[in-house]
Parts: sequence; structure tokens; C-alpha cells
Amino acid sequence: MTFTGKRYDFHDKAGDYAHLASELESLLKGEPDRIANAANTSALLFEALPDVNWVGFYFLHGEPDGGELVVGPFQGKPACVRIPMGRGVCGTAAAKRSTLIVRDVNEFPGHIVCDAASRSEIVIPLIRGADLLGVLDLDSAKLARFDEADRQGLERLAAVFVAASRVES
Ligand code: SME
Repeated sequence: MTFTGKRYDFHDKAGDYAHLASELESLLKGEPDRIANAANTSALLFEALPDVNWVGFYFLHGEPDGGELVVGPFQGKPACVRIPMGRGVCGTAAAKRSTLIVRDVNEFPGHIVCDAASRSEIVIPLIRGADLLGVLDLDSAKLARFDEADRQGLERLAAVFVAASRVES
């Protein structure tokens, strides 16, 4: 396992996300346990990314239609546990199976408040083949913290997590 604890400055977002993806691959290498990998992924991203106040996972329980997202490993303040599919930013991204960037959470109807300090959010669905596994959620106290380069970088990191994590614990 390799963990440098490096805090990237993200002036070169594409380059820094590429390094972070290599670091995550090393961190998860040889470990298929989903919860263990989600815990280490949250910790790595929370350490490495500037201006984030919550990083973590919600996993799908039940069928995508009528199922719900249940909180998994995360870093940040205690969070709401269950989010129905289609509700909030997480449930909407999960139902649409596409990444959602919210520049101002106060302008997103149905946003679910966990940490009142959060101002912007990005949610990346975790998909393997035809299956939705859950979502990776990041919050920031900064308005419009996440952009297209973050979407690309975080989708790559989510893909590293999905590829490594084949066993449900
Ligand atoms: N804001 C999310 C809820 C999860 S927390 O941000 C950790 C939402 O609206 O789905």
C-alpha cells in the first residue's frame, strides 16, 4: 500500500487527478472488499482535495426502481443515512445514472442538507456493466467548487474504485 498524504494544489486539475488516480490504484491494489475500499477512498480524497467538507459513499440497497441509497464510509460530519432513489442530489444522480454538479445547493429543489456549511456538491454514480452500485458524493463549503475537470477526474477515480471493489462486505 502506498499513501503519500500529498495535498495537491489542483492548479493543473487534469494532471493532479491523474496522479491521484495512480495513488488510489496503489491504495486499493489486491483488495476487493467494497467497504474497506470505500473507507480508504474517502480518506484519500478528503486528505488530497482542497475545499471539501464531506466525501463519501452511498450504496444502493434493493432494486434501482424503488430501492434506496444507504450511507457507507465517509469523511466529514455525520450524514443522513437513507436517501430514496430520485430524491436529493444523490438520489437524482443515481436515478439518472449520470454525474450531477450543483453549483449552489440552495438552488437545487429537494437538496438534502447534511452539513449546513455545504454550498456546492458533485455526485458521481458508481456503475458496473448494467448495475448501479451507488454513488460517490463530495460537498464543499465553497460556491461552485466543482467543474467539468472535477467531473472527469472524479469519474476516473470512481472507475478505479468500482474496478477494484468486487466483493460486498
Ligand atoms: N446533499 C445530499 C445528501 C447527502 S450529504 O450531502 C452527505 C443530497 O441532496 O442528496
